[in-house]
This record gives sequence, structure tokens and C-alpha cells, in this order.
Amino acid sequence: MKQGPIAFFDSGYGGLTILDKVRKAMPEYDYIYLGDNARSPYGTRSFDVIYEYTLQAVKKLFEMGAHLVILACNTASAKALRNIQQKDLPGIDPQRRVLGVIRPSVEEIGNRSKNRHVGVFGTVGTVSSESYLLEIAKLFPDMKVSQEACPMWVPLVENNEFLNNGADYFVKQHVDALLKKDPTLDTIILGCTHYPMLMPKIMQFLPQGVNVIEQGDIIAESLKDYLARHPEMNEKCSKGGSVHFYTTECKDKFRSTAEIFFDGDFNVEHVVL
Ligand code: DGL
Repeated sequence: MKQGPIAFFDSGYGGLTILDKVRKAMPEYDYIYLGDNARSPYGTRSFDVIYEYTLQAVKKLFEMGAHLVILACNTASAKALRNIQQKDLPGIDPQRRVLGVIRPSVEEIGNRSKNRHVGVFGTVGTVSSESYLLEIAKLFPDMKVSQEACPMWVPLVENNEFLNNGADYFVKQHVDALLKKDPTLDTIILGCTHYPMLMPKIMQFLPQGVNVIEQGDIIAESLKDYLARHPEMNEKCSKGGSVHFYTTECKDKFRSTAEIFFDGDFNVEHVVL
């Protein structure tokens, strides 16, 4: 058996917020990251298209040698993960694994909220899938959950506009709308991996005391735990401390945003899915 890197997939740049935290928590592993930037955003696309694109990406990452793929994308986790795990993986290679980001995030919400009023920001796809509502209802039936879809937030990130003044209008609009649905919520989960890039702006428009949960640290912790519980998978993950990036867009364009998250030289390759 040939060892391989741990792979992260996102529609674009968002999964970098996850990979950044995972790499800091577990620097010894090799990682590859694939952003489907040329076809991002996924959040407004139909179920079938998101599933098709995500499956193409997973197959590509397996071809590149990964035994373990993390869908560092809530939209893909909500719309494609279950099908890939149950229908595709047994035919492709039952020894490989694909994991998502929603379940570990929901477990964390339960630990953080005191008054049991929580909010979820997500893409149109994630919100309409009701994945967060269903998972939270299973684990914490006492919780009141309000959701808000923020269709403009991913384009702001993908176009590198997330720290500019123009972003304020769109951030405030959705923060206000969520608070209107439940003015008493004490905890909000950023249910899209792109949204931590907007964190300074989100905090600016939220009242003090509201707890905002990012997924990076949560996924780092749950991946560490997964590898400890699955030594057979841990053995298949190579440990050379490298990170390689792949994008379906032009590699120079990808690099200019990825540089915000990763210091030093890094490799970016263009891939076709
Ligand atoms: N970053 C992704 C997520 O976590 C998807 C964003 C998009 O492409 O719409 O949902």
C-alpha cells in the first residue's frame, strides 16, 4: 500500500480556512488542497450539479493518491457527502474515506450555547438542504435554530473583496436579518467555510456577547480524533509536512488569495476535472 496525502476539497478558497487550522494542529502530515474556483460558487447550484462536481473532485483526489478526503465545504457536505459515501465509494474503493464538516460542527454548537438559541449562516444550498436543522434536532432537540442564507458572501470572498468597504452592506444585511429572526440567539455557526474570511466584518455588526463559531479548529480536533481512532487510515497518510494546492482556475489568480493564508513559497497547479 502506497501512503498518500490527506486531501481537502472546496468549491473555492473557503476550505483554506479549514486547512490552515488543520495544518497548524497536525504539521507532520502531507496535504493536498483542491479548489474548484472556476466553477465556484456551488451554493446556488442544484443538488445534481453539486453532487456531480463534488464526485469529480473526489475521484481526482483519489487519483492523486489520497486515501482520505475531507469535504471542507458545507454545501458539498450537505448535498453530496451521503450519496458519495453510500453509493459511490463502495464501487470506487471501499477502503478510502470521504468525510464532511457538518456533523462535527453541530456537536460543538451544543457545547457552546447557554440559552439554546442558535443561528446558522450558510449558502442557499446548505440552508435549503436543512442539514443543520436536521442534525441539530437529532443531537439537541431542545435548541431553537434560525438560519440565514447569504448568497453574496461567497462571491465577495472569491473576488477578493472580503476586506473592502463594499462588503459591509452585504454583511450587515444578513447579520440584521438573522437577528430579526431570533434576537435572543447567543451562538452562531458559520456554516460555510468561506465565511471566516468575513469574520472582522461579521463581528462589527453583531451585538457583543454573541458567540461565533468557526469550523477550522473544530475540524482539526475531529480529524485528529478520527485518525487516533482509525490507526489503519493513519498508516496510509504520509507524513512529510508538505502542502500542495490545485485549482481549476488560473494558478496565479489562486495564489494571490491563498497567500493571505499561507506564508512562504507554495506550489499551485492547474487541474481539469
Ligand atoms: N465554502 C463552501 C461552503 O462551505 C461553498 C461555498 C460556495 O461555493 O457557494 O458551503
